This record gives sequence, structure tokens and C-alpha cells, in this order.
Amino acid sequence: MEAFENKLNLIKERIKDIEKPLILELGVKEGRSTKMFLEVCDQNDGNLISIDVLDYSKVSSNPKWKFIHSSDDNFEYTNQFIEKKVDVLFIDSLHEPNHIRKVFYNYFNFVKVNGLIFIDDVIWLPYVKDGYRDNDFIETINRLTFNKILEIFNSNKDNFTLDMNFSASGLAIMKKIGNHLNNEKKIVNRLFSLKNILKKFYKPKPKN
Ligand SMILES: C[S@@+](CC[C@H](N)C(=O)[O-])C[C@H]1O[C@@H](n2cnc3c(N)ncnc32)[C@H](O)[C@@H]1O
Repeated sequence: MEAFENKLNLIKERIKDIEKPLILELGVKEGRSTKMFLEVCDQNDGNLISIDVLDYSKVSSNPKWKFIHSSDDNFEYTNQFIEKKVDVLFIDSLHEPNHIRKVFYNYFNFVKVNGLIFIDDVIWLPYVKDGYRDNDFIETINRLTFNKILEIFNSNKDNFTLDMNFSASGLAIMKKIGNHLNNEKKIVNRLFSLKNILKKFYKPKPKN
């Protein structure tokens, strides 16, 4: 089965028992995730709001669907359509770490406590040199996105849980447990500290 289908199945499995779910999706394109979310809405009497900068309003005519044609960081416009707290937030629009950070901090406020948040494409392993999807640009952007998510999580362990699915381009799976978000802080990496570099070169001779 295709990697993205696997991810959609994983998400569906996690949300399939939520009654009357309100789902917010960022990024529609071909509507594969949109259709999966609408299946859940049909089964459990829920509703889906999707936002995309391009006009994908024809992807579905399901009355349980509301399409918002806008950039998802035009919060003054988009926030007015989210009238109730959402059970599920799916972030799959512009895959750029600062954009993901911006939309995450805005839409987190609209997620219920115990609600689920999924962020698509956060793993770089398929894109490394000689990897099966070898791609310098995506490797870099996904590494930066992954690190950004770790930084946010490290400052917010009381506000959301974090699991990482490493299959293909990966999926971050979060559960909201607190009501607000702290700003992220850089995580100092001591791998390349002077001390650790010197340790590599200076190895004391073993005593007999
Ligand atoms: C990876 S595709 C979404 C795939 C979709 N979830 C699916 O399952 O088929 C990314 C989408 O994000 C949209 N997009 C890019 N930048 C955006 C932005 N700033 N605001 C809203 N949508 C954006 C693109 O137009 C595109 O449709």
C-alpha cells in the first residue's frame, strides 16, 4: 500500500471513535485526506473545515464540508470560521518550518484539550543522499521542521504529548493536554562542543 495511504489509515484509526468530531484540515490539493476525514464525518455525524490557498472547493459536495479559500496564516480571516473547538487538527499545507510553527501556534488555541494534532512530512530519512527519495531541499526542510517540532515540544511538555511515526516522510502525532503554548527555545547540541571535539582527538593511553 502507498505510504500516504498508510498514514491516512493511521490517522483514521486514531480518530474513528470520536463522536460528532469537528475536524480542521490545512491543505487539500487532491483531497485524499479531505475524503478520509469526510468518511469519518459521515460515519460519526461530524464536520470538516478545510483551508487551502488554492481553490479546491470542487473536491467534494458533501454538506458536512466547509472549504475556506485562503492562506492558512491569514488568521484574521480564517479564525472567524472556527466557531467551536476542534477535535482534530491536520497540518499539511506549506511544508516550511516557520510556517508550520506559525499555524501550529494559532490553531492550537482552537483544539480541545485531549484533541489530536497531526503534522505531515516531518521526517528526512528517505531524502538523504542515496536515499530512495534522494532530495537535498526536502531533506533540509524536513530536518528543520523536525527540529522545530522538538524545540516546541521541549518547551511544552505539559501542554501536548508527541509521538513520531517514522514511516516514509513521517507524521507527528500530538495530543493537547494543556491550554496554552510557551515559546520554543533552541536546544543546545553538545555533539560539536569544543570539549567533545577535543575528546575525539585526545584519548589518554590505557594504563597497564
Ligand atoms: C501536500 S498538499 C495537501 C495534500 C492533501 N492533504 C491530500 O491529502 O491530498 C499541500 C496543499 O497546501 C496548500 N498550501 C500551500 N501553502 C498554503 C498556505 N499558505 N495556506 C493554505 N494552503 C496552502 C497547497 O495549495 C496544497 O494544496
